[in-house]
Amino acid sequence: MQRVRKAVLPVAGLGTRMLPAAKTVAKEMLTVVDRPLIHHVMSEARAAGIEHFVLVTGRGKGAMEDYFDHHVELEETLRAKNKTAILDELLADLPKAGEISYVRQMAPHGLGHAVWCARDIIGDEPFAVLLPDMIMDAEPGATAQAIKAFEQTDGGNIILVEPCPPGEAHKYGIVALDGQDGRLNRMTGMVEKPAPGTEPSNLFISGRYVLQPEIFKVLETVERGAGGEIQLTDAMAKLMGEQPFYALEYEGTTYDCGDKIGWLRANVALALKRPDLGEAARRALAPLFA
Ligand code: G1P
Repeated sequence: MQRVRKAVLPVAGLGTRMLPAAKTVAKEMLTVVDRPLIHHVMSEARAAGIEHFVLVTGRGKGAMEDYFDHHVELEETLRAKNKTAILDELLADLPKAGEISYVRQMAPHGLGHAVWCARDIIGDEPFAVLLPDMIMDAEPGATAQAIKAFEQTDGGNIILVEPCPPGEAHKYGIVALDGQDGRLNRMTGMVEKPAPGTEPSNLFISGRYVLQPEIFKVLETVERGAGGEIQLTDAMAKLMGEQPFYALEYEGTTYDCGDKIGWLRANVALALKRPDLGEAARRALAPLFA
């Protein structure tokens, strides 16, 4: 079985739910506590053993390339002022040269199309997909849980799922299971953004996948689905005829940071958990709820 070494992070989305900020700030660059959303998600991927990151970008997303690069003037200034703690942190979090590739999606044809754009860089090996809108606060991390399940199932396709809040299934991809025994179950189907009342279960696809490279062939021919877009869910449903797919109900808390309230919750929750900020954050926030 091949090891999961590469990850695709689709970051070309317009972020319409985060307007007006997303007009000129890539939504993936919005900060959660003190670092951009994309930084949290990259750290999760790295902790899972990912060695190469493919960012599928689009117009107006250039700040991400600068973020994952040296900022020589800033580093020199921090060095001159002896601000070594923050300098060391900045340098430790930088990917090494050659570990990130950027590929432009060029047109907003949907998540399936975005993943397909990474095909040449991924090549013929299993890979992870992380949707950067979703902060998945978990220990071990959500991607690590997905890769462990991948190893346990001898190399199927793994999709992290979680129970959907009532009445929200139409916003997500929803999976159908072949019975439920524990957290890891074989899937029998999935549907993207089902009409209200038609969803096959209450488990939604929450933003981390481990997929086999055969998905690229399917993405090439799959018809446009929900919203007139090329949907990753439709391609996976098609590939399910040839390869096993498993849903893992992961252990952790998800914050949908593509949404204003989800993003706000992530900021508060992660600040409260930080050893260096938690107590001060609690004191500062408490009067707002009094
Ligand atoms: C995408 C996926 C969907 C998944 C969701 C999670 O939808 O297509 O299956 O449930 O992300 O956020 P989008 O949010 O791009 O509409």
